[in-house]
Formats: sequence, structure tokens, C-alpha cells
Amino acid sequence: MVRPLFLDQSGALGGAELYLFDLARAYRPTGHVLLFEDGPFYARLRDEGLSAEVVPAARTLQAVRKQGGLWALLRVLPSLAALVWQVARRARSYDVLFANTQKALVVAGLAGLLSGRPVVWNLHDLLTPAHFSEWSLWAAVQVANRLTHHVIANSEAARAAYRAAGGTSPTSVVYNGLDPAPFDAIQSADIDALRRRLGLGAGPVIGVFSRLAAWKGQHVLIEALDEVDSFVEHEGVQVLFVGDALFEGDQPYADALRTAIDARGLGDQVHFLGFRDDVPALMRLCDVVVHTSTAPEPFGRVIVEGMLANRPVVATNAGGATEIIVDKRTGRLVPPGDARALASVLVELFGTPEVAEKLGRAGRTHARSTFGLAPMIQGVDSVLTRLRGRGARGRAFPSEA
Ligand code: UDP
Ligand code: GLC
Repeated sequence: MVRPLFLDQSGALGGAELYLFDLARAYRPTGHVLLFEDGPFYARLRDEGLSAEVVPAARTLQAVRKQGGLWALLRVLPSLAALVWQVARRARSYDVLFANTQKALVVAGLAGLLSGRPVVWNLHDLLTPAHFSEWSLWAAVQVANRLTHHVIANSEAARAAYRAAGGTSPTSVVYNGLDPAPFDAIQSADIDALRRRLGLGAGPVIGVFSRLAAWKGQHVLIEALDEVDSFVEHEGVQVLFVGDALFEGDQPYADALRTAIDARGLGDQVHFLGFRDDVPALMRLCDVVVHTSTAPEPFGRVIVEGMLANRPVVATNAGGATEIIVDKRTGRLVPPGDARALASVLVELFGTPEVAEKLGRAGRTHARSTFGLAPMIQGVDSVLTRLRGRGARGRAFPSEA
């Protein structure tokens, strides 16, 4: 079995980290996870008994990250060098350096040079101006082109954006794989109990399961709500916002969302649940799972999860979402940021439960056959296996574009 050294800059539980968690489980006997900061991700790895550590030098790097300008860069250099050195030292006991985030890419790239180990970057982002500043986009592509042997993209959209930004490393696309078992295990008694605990009325429930961040677009659903309310004749529609502001800079959006809901008197209808560990049960409780990202989603685990929960999923028509859902066959796609279009699809689904049910079933079948854990692990493993034994930066595999 290949021995990967996984690197990730985040201690939070974003989608990229949940993906890495499943990979780390697959490589339990041989892999090791090195994080640049402490947090719930580290706790989850440790609770699962996986080999993981937070590197102390990396904490210094995290501490100075918010300061801007040249001075901050100069201050960070010693920490960066220390971290690269520590990673390079550990890398000698592993076959491949696997960078799961952008900062990890820089560290892994340099440590790969020092240790003579090949470097893989798992790209979870769309390298476009909608998500990155011009400078950081350029820097990521330069580092990837010079220091990685292979880039694994989480969707065709992510691969295309990497190429369009000038990326030249060999690439493959590996979709996130999700285990259907926790979704299948939920009984209707669990759902009833959860509904009571949350104090929800009998009306239909719409759930958004994205972290709170401006581009995740929860506000679009709020805008759509008036229209949905006027059409749905049940007791009011309830909205669940599941997820928290996880990353730097996202808190103001979360605060503004809460303020807007209070100001509009929607407090009884819209429920902020924060970050939850019971996503499968919450999704099964919902009548519709909605994905509202206003910028193209790189992949979108929550879309697949909503499908595994046998729910009709409405997602925005861009990026990875279009590789997961075929509109009107396995879910619904609406233009990003279009509250009216979202409202009209929701009204349609509430008005035709048989259509909603059929979409949910078709989505579930598709998600189970296309986004399983096994193909994900195989996809990653075939890249890592081919790289094992390579020295420093090698040539492209002959078969790869
Ligand atoms: N998630 C979770 N608890 C929450 C909200 C979200 O465990 O309260 C999980 C969700 O189930 C999904 C991941 O966080 O697996 C989010 O991944 P996605 O790819 O949708 O978006 P990202 O946050 O990575 O951009
Ligand atoms: C990132 C992306 C998300 C993707 C996840 C896992 O966090 O924002 O779209 O699903 O990584 O690849």
C-alpha cells in the first residue's frame, strides 16, 4: 500500500477536509495527516484513531496570516522554512506528498524538492477570479506547474479552470465519494423525534447545508421566501440553515444574514442550526434540499448528500453542480443568484409531490452509482501508486493530457 503524507492547512471541517478524512481512513495503515492548525478536523481524525498531528511551526504561520504586506511576508518566511523543513524530514518515511489545500501546496512543493518525494495537489477550488485574487491565482498555478507531479481536480469544472489559468501539470478528475449508509440508516421515528426537538411545525421544510459564506448564497433563499410563502397553502414553510461561518472573513456575512432575518420578522420561520454532525437525518427531515451558491461551486458534496437522502435537490446551474445534476431528471438546476427562478421551482415541487418524489428517487440512484467512496479511493490510489518511487519532479505519464 502506498504511504501518503497528507497536508492540509485547515483545522475546520470544510468539504475538502471531510474528503481528506475519508482518504485518511482508506490509508489508515500507511498514511499520516499533517495539519497546519488545530481544530475540529484534528479532533475528528484523532477520535477515529487516525495518524495525525498539528505541526507547531505551522501554528506560527497561521498566527501571522492576517497581517498584510511585505512585513508580514518577511515575518512568515522563517515559519514557512521551519515548516517545510519539518515536512521534508517526515516525508522521507512516506512515498508521496499529498497537498489538499493551497498553502499545503506551497509547503508540499518545497518539501518535495528537499526530500526528493513526488507531490500531488488535490484541487478543491475553481481557480477563477470569482474565487481568487489575481495574484494568488497566479502564484498557485506557478507553484503547481513547477513543483507538482500531478493535480487531482474535484470536478471537470475545476480541471478546466486550472487549465484556463495556465496549469500544465498532468491532471485527473476524482469526484468526492460519499457513503450512503448513514443516509439509509435513518428511520422515520428518528425524523419525527428530530422534528419535535427542533420545534418545527407541520409545514414543508427547505434545508440549506452549506457553510455560511457570501458566495454560498443563503440570502437568495431568503429573497425567494416571500414568493414561496404566498403560493404554499400549508402552515408556513420552514427553512433550516445548517452550517456555520468556518473560514476567515465569513463571519460578517453570517451576522448580516441573521440581522436581515430578524429585521424581516422571519425568526420563527428560519432556523440557524450551526454546524451539525447529523446531516443525514436533517436532510431526510427536509422536503427539499437547496444549494444556493452564487459563484460556481467547485464540486458540492451537499448536492450529492441531498440526493443520497432521497430528496429532490435544487442547485445552482454552474461549476461542479452541473456534473452532478441533470435538470428535471436527477434534480433541478436554477440560475445562480436568481431568487425568482428558485421560488418558482420550489413552488412547482411543493405543488407536485409526485414529481418531487420521482426526482428524489432518480437523484438517489444516480448518486449511489456515480459518487461512491470506492471509485474515489481508487481514483486517488491509481495516481499515488503510479507516482510511488518517483524522485523529485518527474515527467508526465504518457497517457495523460
Ligand atoms: N456539513 C456538515 N455539517 C454542517 C454543514 C455542512 O457536516 O453543519 C458538511 C456537509 O455535509 C458536506 C460539507 O460539510 O459534506 C460541505 O461540503 P461542500 O462540498 O458542499 O462545500 P464546502 O464547504 O466544502 O465548500
Ligand atoms: C471545496 C469546494 C466544494 C467541494 C469540496 C470537496 O471545499 O468548495 O465545492 O465539494 O471542496 O471537494
